[in-house]
Amino acid sequence: MPFENVLIETHDGVATLTINRPKSLNALNTATVAELCLAVEQVADDRSVKALILTGAGDKAFVAGADIAEMAHMASPAALTFSELGHRLGDLLESLPIPTIAAVNGFALGGGCELAMACDLIYASEKARFGQPEVNLSVIPGFGGTSRLARRVGPHRARELIFTGDLIDAAHAERYGLVLAVLPPEQLLPHCREVAKKIAGKGPLAVSQAKKVLAAGADLPLQAANALERQAFATLFGSRDQKEGMAAFLEKRPPRFEGH
Ligand code: CAA
Repeated sequence: MPFENVLIETHDGVATLTINRPKSLNALNTATVAELCLAVEQVADDRSVKALILTGAGDKAFVAGADIAEMAHMASPAALTFSELGHRLGDLLESLPIPTIAAVNGFALGGGCELAMACDLIYASEKARFGQPEVNLSVIPGFGGTSRLARRVGPHRARELIFTGDLIDAAHAERYGLVLAVLPPEQLLPHCREVAKKIAGKGPLAVSQAKKVLAAGADLPLQAANALERQAFATLFGSRDQKEGMAAFLEKRPPRFEGH
């Protein structure tokens, strides 16, 4: 299904969603967030897709935030509905059984930083800038920034970024552990595709279980998290792919995984 503000491409088991409103620096209005939710659901239904990349159109922004022109006249009930929609998008990305990669090609501010943080892996171009500048508008992050930024960079750094609204450059974000690597702009997407393709070649059930256990375990006490791991580890031994992966190793040949 074609979308107005989101482009979808799929190659070699990797889907790429491009937020495509470059004139507004890819700002997230309601229509775009709704389209992104549908696009993520579409990706979830396509069993040939083994990894998802999110990026922004143009050379300036990943996403410069939620759409301020649209939010300017919202009253509290509309703001709550908008925030719920943004949270739904984050939840959909986190519950996708495949890894998601944010290719942050420019500004990732407010809702843009929040969108990146709902992805499993974040890579940035040298031009990227991150921030939660909502206090400049006398609001707070509304798409999961207070919770996800604190989990990503720690509560102390999250407080500083959210209270001051300061932007940080890609190197700073890398020092904070917010991004995994900083690349020259032209190498960002090729790098993300390489990582995505590498993941797409692994046992999909294993990758999906790893994502699930890492996410669920992060909010649990250690013993409960380890119990989840044991369960998932054992479950995978009931799959054909586990037999195939281990047989292929012993027979010194590449495995042929089928996702069963
Ligand atoms: N919403 C709507 N439009 C936006 C936008 C946004 N978040 N960010 C940029 N734009 C628009 C600008 O209004 C401008 O449009 P016009 O050409 O029609 O005037 C166009 O994009 C280009 O932007 P600038 O001219 O401002 O570009 P710049 O290079 O001078 O500055 C910038 C770039 C620093 C990113 C600046 O645009 C900016 O500060 N944007 C707002 C960032 C922000 O506050 N984001 C948080 C939003 S609140 C939020 O996201 C809440 C939440 O958690 C859900």
